[in-house]
Amino acid sequence: MDIRGIGYIGFETPHVDAWRDYGPNILGMGIGENPEGDKDSLYLRMDDRRHRIALHPGKIDRVAYMGWEAVGRLAYLAAIEKLKADGFAVEIGDVDLCEIRGVREVARFKDPIGFQHEIFYGQKFHPLSFVPGRAHTGFAMDERGFGHVVLMSPKFDQEVEDFFLKTMGMKWYGWGAGKGKTGFFRAKLNDKTSHDIGIGHAPGRMGIQHIGIFVNNIRDVGETYDLVKKEKLQMLMTLGQHSQDPHLSFYHFSPSGFAVETIAEHEPWPGDAFELNPQKLSIWGHELVGPILGPSVKTPEELLGLDD
Ligand SMILES: [Fe+2]
Repeated sequence: MDIRGIGYIGFETPHVDAWRDYGPNILGMGIGENPEGDKDSLYLRMDDRRHRIALHPGKIDRVAYMGWEAVGRLAYLAAIEKLKADGFAVEIGDVDLCEIRGVREVARFKDPIGFQHEIFYGQKFHPLSFVPGRAHTGFAMDERGFGHVVLMSPKFDQEVEDFFLKTMGMKWYGWGAGKGKTGFFRAKLNDKTSHDIGIGHAPGRMGIQHIGIFVNNIRDVGETYDLVKKEKLQMLMTLGQHSQDPHLSFYHFSPSGFAVETIAEHEPWPGDAFELNPQKLSIWGHELVGPILGPSVKTPEELLGLDD
């Protein structure tokens, strides 16, 4: 599929009001206008797109959908054909859904684990319209999308791998450095970051473990770090630098119980000539000071029990 990455992501949460303060004041995101037909959700902006993150009121914290961005209409149509050919049920979004997402067209489908995905093209934007929620140099979004996600999955078998590699047409990036089985995948046209999605095998568990968002300047990582400490938010890992990516980052928990990795690149991701096998997760820092799996990782029954 001719996709570059996750253009937008949606969550369900009982904590929309907490995000209304946390999104702009801790993360530095802007608050977007609600579309007609969805007045209760919170739309967070990270650049000139209409929104990048949506928080929808819900009973539990869970990722509601990941919106993969096709490069255009023809890529979108080809992606739908591919999904259907590989036996996936595809639900074409109606006019109302397109309006709510702010896109030309959108279609919905589920992966073999049960996570909801969408594919879209043509999200609305307005040049130079992004205003951060606090002093902030902005988010690195161009040609890559909103950032990355790491999901915990009760299974990690051939079917799961085939979905990402063969149906979605992603590239295999490699295994994580940790003891667990976490595989990382990169959208076919993403040449800016090492991965868009990670799947961690966690028998009996399911949910989102963290999102990674890229800020434009190391200053933004430092200021977010200071704010997280000042507000006494739960940290997951302190400042540090991963072995696999030329990044400075730290992890803390959002009001939805998944972690947010705030990332600045001190040099562009070089594209690896070979699959890496790091001896350690990080070169320095990234001291583990919180639970690896937050409350957003639940049982599959809890997570999927609310579905129709
Ligand atoms: Fe990450």
